[in-house]
Amino acid sequence: MKYRITVLCENSVGPISGTLGEHGFSALIEPAQGAPLLFDTGQGLTLLHNARRMNRDLSKVHGVVLSHGHYDHCGGLLPLMAECGPKLVHAHPGIFAPRFRLKDTGECYPIGMPHSRDQLEAAGAAFSLSKELREIAPGVLLSGEVPRVTLFETGDQGLYCDCTGQDLDTTPDDQSLVLETDRGLVVLLGCCHAGLVNTLEHIAYLTGRRDIYAVIGGTHLGFCGQDQLEKTISALKGWGVQKIAASHCTGFGASARLSRELPKEFQVAHVGYSLEV
Ligand SMILES: [Fe+2]
Ligand SMILES: [Fe+2]
Repeated sequence: MKYRITVLCENSVGPISGTLGEHGFSALIEPAQGAPLLFDTGQGLTLLHNARRMNRDLSKVHGVVLSHGHYDHCGGLLPLMAECGPKLVHAHPGIFAPRFRLKDTGECYPIGMPHSRDQLEAAGAAFSLSKELREIAPGVLLSGEVPRVTLFETGDQGLYCDCTGQDLDTTPDDQSLVLETDRGLVVLLGCCHAGLVNTLEHIAYLTGRRDIYAVIGGTHLGFCGQDQLEKTISALKGWGVQKIAASHCTGFGASARLSRELPKEFQVAHVGYSLEV
């Protein structure tokens, strides 16, 4: 199957006039045949606006995937349904858990889903929730929960289940989307809280394939330590991924390092980035 993938929400914008950035991620997946799918929805401030600027009709979107229950990936679902009607929503059952970012200063911010399940269902969301790998459309796989296997992917140490700082949130609901294409597998990442290497190894284990053509989206390397970054880069070289279109929680520092180490493969997946594969 052939696809066009377009980033609709991201922290930064490309050259398409009038598009806007926000801390978040969303990508539209348009297959050559069949209905488009939306992977994440951003915070909700830019999704509809950017889609209009790029002439993408979101009313045709059949299903929405929420990679995990953070506000910057789920906040656009309610405005999307308000404009485009009810949606089938694929996600992990843990997306509605309360979650927080706790800073070194002691400040604590809620970063979970900005709308309740009841609110979203009243607006037309039909949730299809599972922790397991599943095929949500022909050749389109949702990874299920990703086991934390590598020792170096220690993740973001600032995420908690409450504001006491006792209960670290490993974000177990984090899932990635896999497209089977003629050039190999294309992997869409929300924040990749499980770690990029854990995620790719899990996908390889589930599919029996290691031909990853592209990874697109947030890698969370901007919120992880230097050791995790270095070991992830070295693993990526071993995988031979041809397109590393990183953005969102990858951040400038890790992006610069990826660009220097993998200059042919690295691209910034900002608003307007598009891949036809
Ligand atoms: Fe995020
Ligand atoms: Fe996240």
